[in-house]
Amino acid sequence: MNTSTVRVTGLSKSFGDLAVLKNVDLEVQAGQVVVILGPSGSGKTTLLRSLNLLEKPDAGTLEVCGYRVEIPRSGRFDRATRKQVALLRQKTAMVFQSFNLFPHMTALENVMEGLLSVKKVSKAQALERGRHLLDQVGLADKADSYPAKLSGGQKQRVAIARGLSMDPEVIFFDEPTSALDPELRDEVLGVMRELANSGMTMLVVTHELRFAQEAADRVVFMENGVVVKDCSTEAFFGEESGERIQQFLRRY
Ligand SMILES: Nc1ncnc2c1ncn2[C@@H]1O[C@H](COP(=O)(O)OP(=O)(O)OP(=O)(O)O)[C@@H](O)[C@H]1O
Ligand SMILES: [Mg+2]
Repeated sequence: MNTSTVRVTGLSKSFGDLAVLKNVDLEVQAGQVVVILGPSGSGKTTLLRSLNLLEKPDAGTLEVCGYRVEIPRSGRFDRATRKQVALLRQKTAMVFQSFNLFPHMTALENVMEGLLSVKKVSKAQALERGRHLLDQVGLADKADSYPAKLSGGQKQRVAIARGLSMDPEVIFFDEPTSALDPELRDEVLGVMRELANSGMTMLVVTHELRFAQEAADRVVFMENGVVVKDCSTEAFFGEESGERIQQFLRRY
């Protein structure tokens, strides 16, 4: 049985002359937590954004949550492929560095929005589910607060609750704590740890090595658009990971 939630082969992407992803292969099994590390500009964000086609790769094949998308040579998606992309997106959630909450909606309304507009559940059901999700991220008491009145860590937890409202099979995180003061990071990382423990499939770009060490099953290290290391967390942080990795880790 195929238990891969994400399987990508031969993924390539250039911006003009700049090859940002070069023939990347990546697989994430259901329930796995995979952390992507690598220097700035190595292609981590582009890879993550390619997985739900926010970024359109130039070549490669993606299988995400059972939906398969082969990038056509022409770069133009036919109707069947567009359908696959739409279905695939409904099974994935993305949490960005910059929260991206609706400023004119309360925390609860932000979480309810997709339930009402995408899932088309009743207002009463959306309220109940929204409150439950805010409770799950420790923000039951902030349901009626607007984003401007929330700390960065609280905003990011609302964003995670909003992602969860879509019942995703996998969540992609792109540096979810990078915009936060150090003292606010732990509350977000705590929510992410709980999600990991609950069996959520997660692909996380982060600079938080401790999170990687504690929560990741695997670490993928990227450099110049290439996956240069893909191994167990233990092997990555062990001395056998090689001089390049050791050199990268010493910088922290
Ligand atoms: N829309 C774009 N147009 C042109 N170049 C881009 C675009 N997006 C990214 N790039 C370039 O592609 C390369 C990879 O960018 P990407 O954002 O994927 O790196 P990253 O590994 O996420 O870096 P960081 O750790 O700084 O977030 C960079 O050189 C970047 O300047
Ligand atoms: Mg990035």
